[in-house]
Amino acid sequence: MPRLKKQNIIKRPRKRAIPLQTVKGMRDILPTEQFIWEHILNKSKKLCDDFGFRKIDIPILEYSELFKRGVGQTTDIVEKEMFSFETRGGDKVSLRPEGTAGIARAYIQNGMSRWTQPVKLYQEGSMFRYENPQEGRYREFHHFGFEIFGDGCPAIDAQVIYLAWKIFQKIGVKNLAIQINSIGCSECRPNYKNLLTDYYEMKINKLCVDCRKRLTKNPLRLLDCKEDKCMQVASSAPQIIDHLCGDCHDHFKNTLEFLDELELPYVLNSNLVRGLDYYTRTVFEIWSSDSDSLGRQSSLGGGGRYDDLIGVLGGGDVPAVGFAFGVERVVKKLLSGKISLDKKNTKQVFLVQLGDTAKKKALKLFDKLIDSKVSVGESLGRGSIKSQLKIANRFSSKFALIIGQKEALDGTVIIRDMESGIQEVITMDKVVGEVKRRLKK
Ligand code: HAM
Repeated sequence: MPRLKKQNIIKRPRKRAIPLQTVKGMRDILPTEQFIWEHILNKSKKLCDDFGFRKIDIPILEYSELFKRGVGQTTDIVEKEMFSFETRGGDKVSLRPEGTAGIARAYIQNGMSRWTQPVKLYQEGSMFRYENPQEGRYREFHHFGFEIFGDGCPAIDAQVIYLAWKIFQKIGVKNLAIQINSIGCSECRPNYKNLLTDYYEMKINKLCVDCRKRLTKNPLRLLDCKEDKCMQVASSAPQIIDHLCGDCHDHFKNTLEFLDELELPYVLNSNLVRGLDYYTRTVFEIWSSDSDSLGRQSSLGGGGRYDDLIGVLGGGDVPAVGFAFGVERVVKKLLSGKISLDKKNTKQVFLVQLGDTAKKKALKLFDKLIDSKVSVGESLGRGSIKSQLKIANRFSSKFALIIGQKEALDGTVIIRDMESGIQEVITMDKVVGEVKRRLKK
């Protein structure tokens, strides 16, 4: 073979290997986990329906300015955690880091102040925060949340907390605690912030680097720093509930009275301030009592009142209150309670077939069964009856419907009780009725 001259060798551009893994901090939700997601979301939606909420879907992408103004320029979310970029047309946009600002935008944009108030909305979907991923903290995660616009009454704060609590009860999450505080309003908070700043300035040497920055930018956030040394300083800091104006004081007192009436167990937590700037008055979180490896309790969800947000965004004076929980954290909590994954993926009956004619009959029977609302499994690609019966067992099916070569010719089906192993032959036209009759027993 003649040797190729160097200039005859065509250099193909080397293809870069596709990284076959999810982007850092993002994850697949596999079919084995889906039943638990459905369980959580279905129960939450049902309760929201019962409480008179209506579903809203909003885009994943919003103008960055919405979050800067709504969530707050100096919050960790806006300062460090947004996935922001410029579109080809030059618009500055961000993947939503949370849902409330977008729903408030939708309230204004769609003229919802002209609807009957209060407007009660719920939402589910992906949120994006560029955080350091760790257990229970992802860069793409999912919220289920609900908001009430147009009612400033403390009974509404209590109703939102009650609904959040009830959702967790219905889902089956145990060992929870409601942490609650009031962070006042634009009247009383500035004065408290000054007091807090004075206090922390005297302790500046005991603070972590981040808290030293917070002292000038966002002093309230000093109270919920999770560094040990900062937590110690926070434990003797002045408490905002001692510095609320008359209206905020009454609002908080009334909210607590409603919670007492509803017999909800809550803990007053004077260091709870939440990480988003739009809150006014009531703030609360629902904590799981299982602590993480550092002994800290994790927050499954949080919310509060945000009476100024619609105004800040240019929509006038509309009080509002809401809550959202992180679905991944609730999934994790439920799974740690040893819910069996396989048991949940069940089929009432399982179709077993042998040979091509039987396969055709099985396809038709499958269609009839699902039309009759019978949950049915199949494994049409498999040839051996034994292996198909094994799968039927994995799906915890009560009955297997077996169509062998003989049955395919005879127009019959063998119905096998999977527990007792007892088998009977019935004609194809009677099989759906017979299955439904037996399932009812
Ligand atoms: P948030 O506390 O920032 O509140 O988020 C609510 C919940 O989302 C948290 O309690 C947590 O369970 C979950 N979560 C937050 N970040 C992550 C993450 N990186 N990975 C996994 N889960 C996470 C809000 O976003 C407010 N919009 C809630 C609200 C609604 N306030 C009034 N209305």
